[in-house]
Amino acid sequence: MVDQASNLRKIIKTEKGLRTNQNIKITVDDEKNNVTQFESKIKAVYDNSIIISMPYSNNYFFPLENVSFIKVNINDPCNLYFTAKILDRKLTPVPVLVISRPDNFKTNEIPEGKPCRLIAITSGKGGVGKTSFSVNLAIALSLLNKEVLIFDADIGLANVDVILGLKPKYNLIDIIKHNMRLEDIIYDGPEGIKLIASGSGSEDIYTLKDREFNKLIEELYNLEDMADIIILDTGAGISRKVTNFLFAADEIIFISTPEPTSITDTYALIKIIVNNDKYKKIKLVVNKADNKKEAIETAKKLQLVCEKFLKIKLMVLGYIVEDKKIPKSIKEQKALMLEYPNSLAAAGIMKIANKVINDELWTEEDNYLSLSRFIGRFKSFFG
Ligand SMILES: Nc1ncnc2c1ncn2[C@@H]1O[C@H](COP(=O)(O)OP(=O)(O)OP(=O)(O)O)[C@@H](O)[C@H]1O
Ligand SMILES: [Mg+2]
Repeated sequence: MVDQASNLRKIIKTEKGLRTNQNIKITVDDEKNNVTQFESKIKAVYDNSIIISMPYSNNYFFPLENVSFIKVNINDPCNLYFTAKILDRKLTPVPVLVISRPDNFKTNEIPEGKPCRLIAITSGKGGVGKTSFSVNLAIALSLLNKEVLIFDADIGLANVDVILGLKPKYNLIDIIKHNMRLEDIIYDGPEGIKLIASGSGSEDIYTLKDREFNKLIEELYNLEDMADIIILDTGAGISRKVTNFLFAADEIIFISTPEPTSITDTYALIKIIVNNDKYKKIKLVVNKADNKKEAIETAKKLQLVCEKFLKIKLMVLGYIVEDKKIPKSIKEQKALMLEYPNSLAAAGIMKIANKVINDELWTEEDNYLSLSRFIGRFKSFFG
């Protein structure tokens, strides 16, 4: 099932043209016609240029200093080639190459449309604040001028719509059962956010079949043109109902509270995700912290175990303190960010939203290789 979902996702992404996070192969021919191949990844696509991660091979980065042109190959699932000129090399904040975006490829292969980030919000343990965070992060991002769609992927449990006091007529259950399209069940939420509700419901929703999951994930990628950011509010834990959405997302924000049980459950789920895809962007938000000190301690514990046992750098997006305004706003079915914008929790969420926007260039391999390690490897290769 995982393979099917990720294959499907790859096909949809490649059909749509150059996409961020897409793996590419870089080929360089020297004067003697020797061919060298490197791995890379698309980080951003602009009208006339493309930013790609610094080409690497065997964990070494190659800034391709004496090279002017490279051949770029997007080989998954079909073979697409184009030649690009290296326009610039940047080593900070992360090592990238800026290359030209060829016209013929642009007109022939790339439909218009903007890159959209698919961010899943999840947790190892239930009740840690995923849904309230998802809703308020969506509103905060919208206040920062992003177009946001929130997708309630906690199938079978109506959540997001209830928190916002909305009563959508159709929901995900209609997609699965009545063959409707996702775009037909999008509702307007506060501050211009769009919402797809999950619907509370019947038992058989819990036993979604593989093809039904595939249909949902396929539909999800068809929504890409409708928003800059799609936020998936998932259920908690390691059931397939949750992990299939996590495998399909570009980035995952884990919510953990300082409770030891929440920390261990968070780690257990991160491990499953990283074992499936070590380059997945994994980020952390600490919720319900008594204060900043407790939040930092919680984040450090998780960062340490992730670094030590999974060899990944867990990016910490920020923290939200325990704040009575959150349950109060939920009871009132109003969004915290709009009702209590001066609350401590709202301030924490706004900081996180800013960080979510600012780390757009920080992608998978940065997760895996910190800049200091990069410099170390760079020096050991060229030194
Ligand atoms: N920072 C916070 N301060 C105080 N209460 C909070 C905070 N964040 C969430 N809560 C409360 O915790 C409870 C659970 O929140 P929420 O429903 O968002 O969690 P969840 O992780 O989505 O739960 P589930 O796993 O059931 O989907 C709610 O009562 C909410 O008001
Ligand atoms: Mg929830």
